[in-house]
Amino acid sequence: MADQKRCNSLLEQALKLYLQLLRSRNVPNSLFKMAAERCLNRMRFLGQYSNAILVHKLVIDRFPDTPKHLSDMAVTYLTVNRIDEARSVLKQVLAKWPDDGFALVHYGFILKTANKLEEAIFYLERGIRTGDEGALDGRFYFHLGDALSRLGKTEEAMKVYEEGTKNKVFLSKYQRSLYNVPRLTGKSWWQPEDLPYSASFKLLRHNWMKIRDEALSVLSVKGDFQNESENLKDTGDWKQFELFARGQKNSRNCKKCPFTCSIIDKIPEARSCKRGQTKFSVMHPGTHIWPHCGPTNCRLRAHLGLEVPSKTFIRVATETRSWKEGEIIIFDDSFEHEVWHNGTKLRLVLIVDIWHPELTPSEKRNLSPI
Ligand code: LMR
Ligand code: MN
Repeated sequence: MADQKRCNSLLEQALKLYLQLLRSRNVPNSLFKMAAERCLNRMRFLGQYSNAILVHKLVIDRFPDTPKHLSDMAVTYLTVNRIDEARSVLKQVLAKWPDDGFALVHYGFILKTANKLEEAIFYLERGIRTGDEGALDGRFYFHLGDALSRLGKTEEAMKVYEEGTKNKVFLSKYQRSLYNVPRLTGKSWWQPEDLPYSASFKLLRHNWMKIRDEALSVLSVKGDFQNESENLKDTGDWKQFELFARGQKNSRNCKKCPFTCSIIDKIPEARSCKRGQTKFSVMHPGTHIWPHCGPTNCRLRAHLGLEVPSKTFIRVATETRSWKEGEIIIFDDSFEHEVWHNGTKLRLVLIVDIWHPELTPSEKRNLSPI
């Protein structure tokens, strides 16, 4: 009834009843499991994670010999970033059931997030090899390959990506985004002429100097550009200044760059691109960005070169290119890409994400933001 009427107070009542049932004696196993599953699902929906932990504990007390119930609790801990508790629950599972695929991959995932690459590889590899339900998720192939690649084991990483492609978790060995619309054309580099956006590219190109000056003026104030936050940097210094994200304007930052934002406002395929961002990206000499893939194949990434010293490169899949001041390069960042700055002056670009041209208007309206 709560679902039908979309009524949270009814849902709260239902949760109380579920809990009452889970605490009663003489409840048959099948009913207990049904109630627990439903209760956990609705608590997660409401964001009631501490209550969910309570339910997990009731389930574990009743079925102490089913590793899945412990692992499910670990996943809830992970969802709310209680990493230490997640790790310790998984450790408990693995002490008793060392071959449990679900626990192995999640434990490996936690180690990878903590940058313990060798250990992460050990668990992720073994977990995936079990073929257990839940262990063949794209995220685990993704992190296993990434850990191998960061340790310089590129060939082994590629084997993992090939296997992931065979098991349909990746679009191809180089295109490893996990939030995809499968039918879209996937290619690493695009030419401006391949796209129906020529007026927009012209607007960016014609105004590149004013855009550059605006970026440089923000850059001259300390603290406005932020460090890249996804642990993609190997060496050096790489910062960004965000103007639009997930289809929303960053008003605070746009106040500092009114001209650039007014240009983007005139570019609907960027302005409305809920699965991307517009941002300035500054990279200092001596920077190397690890090979990585963006999250979705629904966008293409245009870079407008603003300050481009020599010896700066970007590889996308198998082809390496560079930037030119006042010019645009376009790539699909769901493909593996890697960046080097071996020059001597800072490199500055405007990154503009635009919708993949084959998406329909209703897809663009309805896709979840990223
Ligand atoms: C990326 O999209 O990961 C990089 O190309 C960003 C950058 O500043 O080059
Ligand atoms: Mn990237």
